[in-house]
Amino acid sequence: MKKEFAQRPETFIEQWPGELTGHGSWHGSLVGMPSPLFVVTSYKSNGKQNACFQSRSTFTENNGELYCLLGWVPTGNHMLTSLRETGCCVLNFPTRDLMDKCWKTIEHNQFEADEITDSGLTAEPATSVNAPRIAECFLNIECEFVWEQELAQREFALGDSSCAVVCVKAVRVCMDSDYYDESEIGRYGKTGFVYMTGARNPDTGEIYTGGYAGVEVYNDKTQ
Ligand SMILES: Cc1cc2nc3c(=O)[nH]c(=O)nc-3n(C[C@H](O)[C@H](O)[C@H](O)COP(=O)(O)O)c2cc1C
Repeated sequence: MKKEFAQRPETFIEQWPGELTGHGSWHGSLVGMPSPLFVVTSYKSNGKQNACFQSRSTFTENNGELYCLLGWVPTGNHMLTSLRETGCCVLNFPTRDLMDKCWKTIEHNQFEADEITDSGLTAEPATSVNAPRIAECFLNIECEFVWEQELAQREFALGDSSCAVVCVKAVRVCMDSDYYDESEIGRYGKTGFVYMTGARNPDTGEIYTGGYAGVEVYNDKTQ
């Protein structure tokens, strides 16, 4: 049986102030849409590495170009400041075994921190843009900053929840050959792209914290 929701279910209690009304939403917790996890790297104005773990994004294409829309960028983040200053970044795609180190980038979020190396990862310079790459990631997409747009009018948001949508354009792709060869490791399954999951049951309020997901490939696609 399908159920419809136009209002926050009463079972949805915030775990912390703003979880469902500030930067988050009850709809998001209800839907539980998986989203790819990757790390956006750039240089801060002091030359130190910035790393921002990302989940709310999508990729699109037009006129022969690949774009990424970073859909949830709180305007106080270092990432947005560095993007404005340097005009570029790298999108680094980690495998499941690197998740703990990616989480550490959040602990090492100080302006003075070299967030990649302080988290136990290896930084290497990007080839086409002035940003660091994470060497361990199987895929690095070097990007130029294209535009930013406020996601919602600030006066409609509750509290300090101003968020931007940021568009970046790929200028170079660096990918491990064992991952682009599907007969070797490949991009999918448990060893490739990692997605974030998690959702709530509106009937009971039960929180399914989820975990990491890979992409299961069904071989029944029509050609
Ligand atoms: C699983 C997970 C997903 C996240 N997704 C996003 C996201 O989509 N956008 C974002 O700006 N921050 C996201 N964050 C939070 C940032 O990674 C975190 O605030 C980071 O330290 C900000 O870095 P910065 O200030 O250097 O840019 C996420 C964190 C976690 C743990």
